[in-house]
This record gives sequence, C-alpha cells and structure tokens, in this order.
Amino acid sequence: MSFRFDVITLFPELVDSVVKSGIPRRAVEQNAIELHCWNPRDYTTDKHRTVDGRPYGGGPGMVMKADCLLDTVKAVKQHSTAKVIYLSPQGKPLTQSAVQRFAQQENLILLCGRYEGIDERVIDIAVDEEWSIGDYVLSGGELAAMIVIDVLSRLLPNVLGHEDSAEQDSFTDGLLDCPHYTRPERVENLGIPDVLKSGNHAEIAKWRRQQALGRTKQRRPDLLQKLELSEEDKKLLSDYLKSSSNEERED
Ligand code: ADE
Repeated sequence: MSFRFDVITLFPELVDSVVKSGIPRRAVEQNAIELHCWNPRDYTTDKHRTVDGRPYGGGPGMVMKADCLLDTVKAVKQHSTAKVIYLSPQGKPLTQSAVQRFAQQENLILLCGRYEGIDERVIDIAVDEEWSIGDYVLSGGELAAMIVIDVLSRLLPNVLGHEDSAEQDSFTDGLLDCPHYTRPERVENLGIPDVLKSGNHAEIAKWRRQQALGRTKQRRPDLLQKLELSEEDKKLLSDYLKSSSNEERED
C-alpha cells in the first residue's frame, strides 16, 4: 500500500523534483509513496488557457481563478478520496505532529496557489484544511507542498533504515535534538564529550536527554512550556543550566 500525493500546481516539474533525490526518492523506489501532479492550466476552457484574473476591488497582483481550480479538484477526486490541503501563509502553522497525523491517512491532495492567492470561493467549496510552513510569503505553495512530501516520506514505515530511524528526531518527543559527532576525534582544537566514548549506554542516553532538554530551554522555551517534565528531567535540566552558567562565568 503506498501513500498517494496528488498535487495541484502550475509548476509540476518543480514539485516532481522533490522525489528525484534523497529520502523521498527512496520512498518512491520502495513504493511507499506515489506522486501525481495536476496542472490547472489543463482544466481551462478559453483559448489563452487563462488561470488568473485581476482582483475584485483593485490592487496589485493576480488571483488564481476558481473555475479551473475547482475542475482540477473534481478530476483529482475521481482518483482519490483524500482531504484537500491548501498551502498558504493564512494556514495553521505546520508542525511535526500535524504531519504525523497526515501520515495516518493513505493519501493527501495538496493545492498550491500562485500569484496573490486563489479565489476565496475555492477554499469555501473545496478545501478541507489550510496549512502554512511559516510566517513568510513564498512565491507559491509548491515549496510548501514539497516540504509536506519530504517530511511525510521519512515517517512512513521502512523508508528510513533502522540506522536512521525517525523516532529519535527533533520534535518527535517535543524537544530539539542533542548534538551529534563523528570521526575524527579532534576537529581543529575541538574534541568530543568524554561520555560519548565511555561505552556506557545508560550514561550516553542520559547525556543526550540532558542536552535535548537544555538546548530546548535555551533556544525554544515555548516548546518546553508545552511539556510536563518528570522529576528526573527537571534535575537533568537544572544541572545543565547550572553548568552552562558556570561556563559563561569562566569565559
Ligand atoms: N504559499 C505562500 N507562502 C506560503 C507559506 N508560508 N506556507 C505555505 N504556503 C505558502
């Protein structure tokens, strides 16, 4: 059973490029995902294949027309029963847990806007959910759709090897990731923390947890506020903060 993405876009070659390399490519090769792009220009009925129009009320920019978008959605729905997700800066902020929820379905329809946006009535009629990848304005929803495809690809069973499992990712447990090191043991004048060479797996796990807690507190206190920390986590965090404030004093 593969996860099917249907992407409605004026730039199918751009969206297709997400499965040309890396993990999403592996996901396609393993039949874990399928990507189908649909171009609204193919659902226009006028001689010039017009996909946009000037905004009612005036102002700069162009708005994507409702008719070709609704006809594209109709065509896609003959192949998919999925929810229609519209990518736009007005959407809810996309998070790892939102994508984990998407991954529980079997398919998604991703609608990408261009120009100043799409005719609002398309959203009223055909869109189930609206999501944003961040507080900035892209020139279109394509990069956002590619992000959804990339993030979701690595959550599907068997796409990542055992050695690079998604379970230990940042955000999976609500925390940022701990630091990582590989050979050589010295880079310029920097070594690696002794505990990582100790072979003591319990101590290593404890150190990683402490680093994740400490970095999250320092860099993203908003994430930490959402969590209920155990007594053990609280102790790890307060030790981390004590030693990092000592380091600051030594500097
Ligand atoms: N389209 C344009 N900007 C976007 C954003 N920030 N997120 C999702 N889709 C977009």
